[in-house]
Amino acid sequence: MPQVARAPGRVNLIGDHTDYTGGLVMPMAIDRATTIEFEPSNDVRLTSGDFAGTVQFALPTSGSLASSNGFAPATVTPTWGRYVAGVAAAMIERGFSPRGFAGQVLTTVPIGGGLSSSAALEVAAALAFGIEADSATIAAVCRRAEHLATSVPCGIMDQLTSVAGVRDHALVIDCHSLDVTAVAMPESASVWVVPVSSRTLDGSEYPARVAQCAAAEAEVGPLRLADLAMVERIGDPVIRARARHVVSENQRVRDFATALSAGDLREAGRIMYEGHRSLRDDFATSTPSMDDAVEQLGKIRGVHGVRMTGGGFGGCVVVLADDDADVSAPLAGRLAGMRVRAADGASVSPRV
Ligand code: GLA
Repeated sequence: MPQVARAPGRVNLIGDHTDYTGGLVMPMAIDRATTIEFEPSNDVRLTSGDFAGTVQFALPTSGSLASSNGFAPATVTPTWGRYVAGVAAAMIERGFSPRGFAGQVLTTVPIGGGLSSSAALEVAAALAFGIEADSATIAAVCRRAEHLATSVPCGIMDQLTSVAGVRDHALVIDCHSLDVTAVAMPESASVWVVPVSSRTLDGSEYPARVAQCAAAEAEVGPLRLADLAMVERIGDPVIRARARHVVSENQRVRDFATALSAGDLREAGRIMYEGHRSLRDDFATSTPSMDDAVEQLGKIRGVHGVRMTGGGFGGCVVVLADDDADVSAPLAGRLAGMRVRAADGASVSPRV
């Protein structure tokens, strides 16, 4: 029987570049998703509504990945198929037996815009391959898929949000314990995503940031347990600044969650601006056009907070505003916002 696997994108409200040090993040799954309509098959055959070409490969036999004559997800073409092949390889590594399928990928997640289109594809593929496991395990498999498919040593936030999203709620995720706590979005609030520039993290300085955090941890131990006084003892000024961002950002997630739970949008917005400055000045993942977007959008009536969101180096900014604010009109001829609502995580169902 034909089935549909569906996995949402995500927007991160606060807590960027903390996940790969086991820190805190506060994203929400959004009402934009990637679907794979599929039927069982012996191998994998997949077309896309957005890209030309067919992704086609035979599944390596379970348990024989290393010897399966060079099954290398990072060489699959067309390139979007690498995420799908990565999921198959990561499932086999973990002892799952992916089932083949033939189908089509469709998405309403803007591709390459910082809303985790790749994580949505990975999670939808894992469900189409028939994975059955808890949310954290599915997310870990999909994170590993991203590592196998690209050169981006990402954390687990995007994949876990796509799996574990809760409608009308943001999620506080402890990326060490992988505990997920749903926090209701206040009815008085709206969340907007404003695309600033299209980009991919492949080839960006993302891996350098991961390495700089590891260098900081070699000096002061896990950043999730460090405080600002410990950070100030780090000798290298660049490494010190990176660590200062991570440690202060973890605290911002706690404070933001408290403010949002209390419906205090003004305080939540203030924390978002502070988070943006930290990513700009200490972590160096913003761009002049993102900084400009934060400033311009902050002037709109009813807007409480704006910050770059996700990996950075381009992508989009996230806006927290009153429910009746309008961030959809293009600003300076370009910055047109798209309202997003917190959505449930991934699922698979019969195709109707
Ligand atoms: C990308 C990665 C995530 C996370 C963010 C930054 O989205 O995929 O794991 O590190 O950047 O918070």
